[in-house]
Amino acid sequence: MVMGRFKRFISELFGGLALILLVHAQDQSDFISIDCGLPENSSYTEWSTGVDYISDAGFIDSGINRQISTEFKVDLQRQVWSLRSFPEGIRNCYSIRITQGTKYLIRATFFYGNYDGESKLPEFDVHLGANMWNTIKITNVSNAFVKELIHVPPLNYIQLCLVNTQRGTPFISAIELRPLPNSSYVTTDGSLERFWRVDVGSESNSPYRYKYDVYDRIWWPYNYEEWTGLSTSLTIESRSSNPSRPPSVVMSTAATPINDSASLNFYWEPEDATSKYYIYMHFAEVVKLKANQSRSFNVTLNGKHWYGPYVPEYLWTFIMYSTDALISTGGKYFFSLVKTENSTLPPIINAIEVYSVKNLLQSETDQEDVGAITKIKSTYGVKRNWQGDPCAPQAYLWEGLNCSYDGYNAPRVISLNLSSSELTGAISADISTLVMLQYLDLSNNSLTGLVPEFLSQLQYLEVLNLERNQLSGSIPAELIKRSKSGSLLLSVGENSNLCASNSCERKKSKNNIVVLILASVVGLLILSLTIAAIFCGLTRRKKQDKTRVALVDTEPNVQNRPLESMQRQVTYSDLQRITNNFERILGKGGFGTVYYGCMDGIRVAVKVFSPSSVQGYQQFQAEVKLLVRVHHKNLTTLVGYCYEGTNMGLVYEYMANRDLEAQLSGHNTNILSWQARLQIAIDAAEGLEYLHHGCKPPIIHRDVKTTNILLNEKFNAKLGDFGLSKIFQTDSGTHVSTNVVGTPGYLDPEYYKSNWLNEKSDVYSFGVVLLKIITNRPVIGRSQDRTHISQWVSFMLAKGDIQNIVDPRLGGDFDVNSVWKAVEVAVVCVSPTSSRRPTMNQVLTELKESLTTELSQKMEGYGVELKDSFDMINMDLDTELNPLAR
Ligand SMILES: *[C@@H]1O[C@H](CO)[C@@H](O)[C@H](O)[C@H]1NC(C)=O
Ligand SMILES: *[C@@H]1O[C@H](CO)[C@@H](O)[C@H](O)[C@H]1NC(C)=O
Ligand SMILES: *[C@@H]1O[C@H](CO)[C@@H](O)[C@H](O)[C@H]1NC(C)=O
Ligand SMILES: *[C@@H]1O[C@H](CO)[C@@H](O)[C@H](O)[C@H]1NC(C)=O
Ligand SMILES: *[C@@H]1O[C@H](CO)[C@@H](O)[C@H](O)[C@H]1NC(C)=O
Ligand SMILES: *[C@@H]1O[C@H](CO)[C@@H](O)[C@H](O)[C@H]1NC(C)=O
Ligand SMILES: *[C@@H]1O[C@H](CO)[C@@H](O)[C@H](O)[C@H]1NC(C)=O
Ligand SMILES: *[C@@H]1O[C@H](CO)[C@@H](O)[C@H](O)[C@H]1NC(C)=O
Ligand SMILES: *[C@@H]1O[C@H](CO)[C@@H](O)[C@H](O)[C@H]1NC(C)=O
Repeated sequence: MVMGRFKRFISELFGGLALILLVHAQDQSDFISIDCGLPENSSYTEWSTGVDYISDAGFIDSGINRQISTEFKVDLQRQVWSLRSFPEGIRNCYSIRITQGTKYLIRATFFYGNYDGESKLPEFDVHLGANMWNTIKITNVSNAFVKELIHVPPLNYIQLCLVNTQRGTPFISAIELRPLPNSSYVTTDGSLERFWRVDVGSESNSPYRYKYDVYDRIWWPYNYEEWTGLSTSLTIESRSSNPSRPPSVVMSTAATPINDSASLNFYWEPEDATSKYYIYMHFAEVVKLKANQSRSFNVTLNGKHWYGPYVPEYLWTFIMYSTDALISTGGKYFFSLVKTENSTLPPIINAIEVYSVKNLLQSETDQEDVGAITKIKSTYGVKRNWQGDPCAPQAYLWEGLNCSYDGYNAPRVISLNLSSSELTGAISADISTLVMLQYLDLSNNSLTGLVPEFLSQLQYLEVLNLERNQLSGSIPAELIKRSKSGSLLLSVGENSNLCASNSCERKKSKNNIVVLILASVVGLLILSLTIAAIFCGLTRRKKQDKTRVALVDTEPNVQNRPLESMQRQVTYSDLQRITNNFERILGKGGFGTVYYGCMDGIRVAVKVFSPSSVQGYQQFQAEVKLLVRVHHKNLTTLVGYCYEGTNMGLVYEYMANRDLEAQLSGHNTNILSWQARLQIAIDAAEGLEYLHHGCKPPIIHRDVKTTNILLNEKFNAKLGDFGLSKIFQTDSGTHVSTNVVGTPGYLDPEYYKSNWLNEKSDVYSFGVVLLKIITNRPVIGRSQDRTHISQWVSFMLAKGDIQNIVDPRLGGDFDVNSVWKAVEVAVVCVSPTSSRRPTMNQVLTELKESLTTELSQKMEGYGVELKDSFDMINMDLDTELNPLAR
């Protein structure tokens, strides 16, 4: 839905550009042709078909490249010469990016060719994502086994997995995906697995495929002794009403019974009693009939009238099919083409397709969970065979995971056991994305840092085991509370620097931890004037029950307010000590200087406000008020504050990787990858989304920019600097009129003109941040005309120059679709009219999709061309083709 809106906006902004990008020519540009086992980066064009194949190396991390025995290579298409075999692991998966919502012909080819010299024919399973597709039983060393499925994948990638079932080593020779028109092969129940696809009356002995067939279906030749061939040398056309478009070469030959008065019969027996079938019969008259000749016939299924009378049309295709699955009562499906009374000629048929219904009902695991667990896997470099869908099929659950299953709905991760997995670094914030988690075991690793606050957001958590790590600091109060109330089994033993017990709680009265500051600040604020309660998030609400009292709006003129009466705070001399007498400057802002510090063994950043500045005071107050109430993994955490007369300071957690601006700047040699940039954008968007939609009344940041997106040692982004933020309290309207503040370039032009503020002003600024992330160009051009980054991007888009929009420092290492999606989002965010801008919810959804796109596909280049392909077609491959007639 949302995407539809974005697309429209794009067209409005840039004419037909977006549409042009989406149109594909009828060539192989949208084919995906993967030769498994081909060396990394190599590609070639198969001589006999003209299909361009690429190596599978970019789609899978496991398995080994093998070659079939040379004797079998003669006369075979090159894509079966090499293969990838999987001696290790139970389930090995290819991950292939596709276009979501498109109907695909998915073809997997298996040619054993005694590649391992053992002449042992293996049997194994093939899964498509969360569903079992087929069992591959290799019964002949020199036959290719070709499985085909017509399927609309639900996500923007497919995972094709080879599963070892203890009956030999799985392998695969080729994977091919061909988009089909939406209106072809329409069914009412499920996907279609090819059973037959035959070119009846074929005069050649070989199957036809691309380029004869625009969709690269393979048509196997079929003749039967009681039939005779008819053919024409003229072209057979398809009308646009027939999306099936069978190739002319297939349609130009047909079969008719040798006995003029006999009917034309064929049948099959179902693989099992529950199998359902669809049939597509293709007809075209190939003989120019004389005036006194006619050809007309009925079609019956199991003796019952099915279609007709039908008269084939000269040189035009006709497709005969039903939109529901066939119904057979007697087991067999017996088709008979019977000539009608006044027909002078017997029936004909040119091509037949039969498909069995394949129900791929099991959903893939919830995509948020998949994203989180995939990131956890990469963050910690988890050394387990974590491939394919994490939860499904259930029998192939990832080791260390457990999931909840609810019919065919998307499974959710409910348990994560990474005990004894050599994890290092901090506890990953991605864990908090696994919102259904009940059991979390991170024990016996080398995890460092604090026990993060976000763990207490996991509201279903019942068991949390952090034993035997090197965690430090104190345990979030909420976790302790839940542990005491018995709803959480918390184990934190053998962490040398962690204060978990009562001793720690006693110490709390001395140390500055947020919970206590909170209480004291509230004490102050109850006294204060304007009252506006803020509630943020659901899981937070419980925790803040006792403090959910009142907060002041940030309006000025509060100099006389008794801030001094706050009981809990850091003294100025504490600040001096923490910062080692303001030794190391981290940065300077308009209202003060930020210093490095160390407080209770934790690295901190201390912002000291310029003395006796009214604005400094307001900024200070705004931040304190906001940060004591608003907690989110993507917002900076306040660990203390100081207010002594004109000495005002705030103590934050330390952000080791400074801010996004610093990371993007030319001086930085460590170039942020596209994936990292997207993740930072998503983190920042989550913080902003929380302010806008998780808090009541909403909070507008008013100064979203790259320098305010702070990065910790793991490059998790947090939104900082709430000095300008505004609690957005209105009675009925949607705007607040205020004095314009913000940073040039990031400032919403509508707000600038009208002084009317709403959340969309932040969305604008966020759009500018996104454009900066994508292009890494100055927000305001350095040349004379001072072009704004959004104007520059519009200009490049209008020229159709998408590639050159992207930061050249990425060296082209990104998925174009992923970047394109981000560009689309950014462009609508910076729309001059605020009503056209999306909400942060929508932005977040789009960015996550963009990340999924980037993660799910690492399409390898089309590097080396290997030239020595001289082979003949011998794809007479399918041993499963039953006799058609009797
Ligand atoms: C394949 O290409 C990539 C990018 O061009 C390169 O980094 C990699 O080393 C290449 N691999 C091989 C085996 O040539
Ligand atoms: C294997 O298939 C080939 C044709 O491709 C055939 O000639 C041969 O007899 C088959 N072998 C077996 C054991 O069925
Ligand atoms: C394809 O057709 C289905 C209905 O048959 C429709 O719901 C869907 O939107 C169509 N998709 C596209 C991309 O046209
Ligand atoms: C031709 O078919 C008709 C009807 O099925 C049958 O009666 C006749 O015997 C057949 N002729 C020959 C030569 O098989
Ligand atoms: C049909 O017409 C042709 C001449 O055009 C003639 O030779 C043939 O015998 C006719 N056949 C019948 C069944 O009338
Ligand atoms: C006889 O055949 C013609 C086509 O050649 C068809 O249009 C007509 O309906 C048929 N008549 C009967 C009675 O089947
Ligand atoms: C063909 O079908 C029509 C319509 O159902 C029927 O009237 C006719 O008798 C059938 N002809 C034969 C030979 O079965
Ligand atoms: C997963 O959870 C279910 C239900 O709680 C339990 O029966 C099963 O043993 C668990 N599986 C694993 C691998 O832990
Ligand atoms: C978690 O994993 C560890 C090590 O693999 C294992 O010893 C422990 O039994 C697991 N816990 C559960 C509940 O499965």
